[in-house]
Amino acid sequence: MSDTGVQLKDVKKSFSVVDVIRGVDMEIKRGQFAVFVGPSGCGKSTLLRMIAGLEDTSAGKILIGDRDVTDVDPADRGVAMVFQSYALYPHLSVFENMAFSLRLAKRPKAEVKEKVHEAAQVLQLTEQLDKKPAQLSGGQRQRVAIGRAIVRAPEVFLFDEPLSNLDAELRVQMRLELARLHLKLGATMIYVTHDQVEAMTLADVIFVLQGGYVQQSGAPLDLYEDPSNRFVAGFIGSPSMNFFNATVVARADGRLTARLDGQPDQSFDIAMTTALEPGTPVTLGIRPEHLVVSEGEGMRVTVDVAEELGGVSYQHGTLEGGEAVIFQQIGARHGMHGTVQTILPQTDRIFVFSREGDRIR
Ligand SMILES: Nc1ncnc2c1ncn2[C@@H]1O[C@H](COP(=O)(O)OP(=O)(O)OP(=O)(O)O)[C@@H](O)[C@H]1O
Ligand SMILES: [Mg+2]
Repeated sequence: MSDTGVQLKDVKKSFSVVDVIRGVDMEIKRGQFAVFVGPSGCGKSTLLRMIAGLEDTSAGKILIGDRDVTDVDPADRGVAMVFQSYALYPHLSVFENMAFSLRLAKRPKAEVKEKVHEAAQVLQLTEQLDKKPAQLSGGQRQRVAIGRAIVRAPEVFLFDEPLSNLDAELRVQMRLELARLHLKLGATMIYVTHDQVEAMTLADVIFVLQGGYVQQSGAPLDLYEDPSNRFVAGFIGSPSMNFFNATVVARADGRLTARLDGQPDQSFDIAMTTALEPGTPVTLGIRPEHLVVSEGEGMRVTVDVAEELGGVSYQHGTLEGGEAVIFQQIGARHGMHGTVQTILPQTDRIFVFSREGDRIR
């Protein structure tokens, strides 16, 4: 048995004349928890549905384990999908909802009972088996939907924003339960989410999709610390990275000096391997946590909104040149809004991008 969970080879998808997926390659190892993120409409659900076989593949190949399943029926792919909208049968009990696919496959009664009870135990649903979906909470309903997938013992679980209908507290709880479930079952899981925290905490590997391609894939912190382009840099991390237009004004061995456009007294000395000519326009990316309040020199920010979360707060404001900026403060700092603060970037944490959005190292 190879250690491939799911593999996509130059997969494409067009709806009539619209190319949604333009060429996606990915390899998800057996047992990995993979997360797809990307802006609304970028094709996350479409890709998941293609892996499930619910959507044709316009070009390319999809492998599950060693098997080319590109043209295999959904029921024979060894995958189970969990949707955002639970999709439970309202007139059936929890037991019958979970047993549905096994009954359809004409499994023996004793086996159906055993598998449903096993799944119910994993999901703490044993007490709910006789109830109808309407008698359950949102979290319990979502667990039934997951249970329906578990009883089929799929090789691959596919989740399309399964927690997005739940309230904040329940989401946190279900997120932990999913992490435990993954550890327990050891199955390959592919998970689509809009939620940064879910992506960062659940994923072994994140795939950032945009414009029909995978922009970057890797372990969550690798994407966070080493984004390969401006899109990924801005997409991963909440609140988002700050971007400022700047111009290279000087270079030395392994370093360059970049000056913020429109702010002649704000220049930064940045370590770089690429030698950029003075005059080159660039974009500097700085995460909110790498802008620190300074007692002396620095960039002056007029703070208009302070989001105080307890342990940290996020200060939103504008620089003298008019650019929006967000910086982080550790500890409570009441009443910063309406004030002018001076901040300085940690220059070893500044990312440099071309104006086209490519990372320059
Ligand atoms: N059956 C279809 N026919 C035509 N176009 C479709 C069809 N399904 C999806 N699309 C289009 O494909 C694109 C990708 O849709 P998809 O649902 O995969 O996006 P998504 O990344 O899941 O977005 P969201 O985050 O909003 O769920 C969209 O532009 C959508 O309009
Ligand atoms: Mg979607």
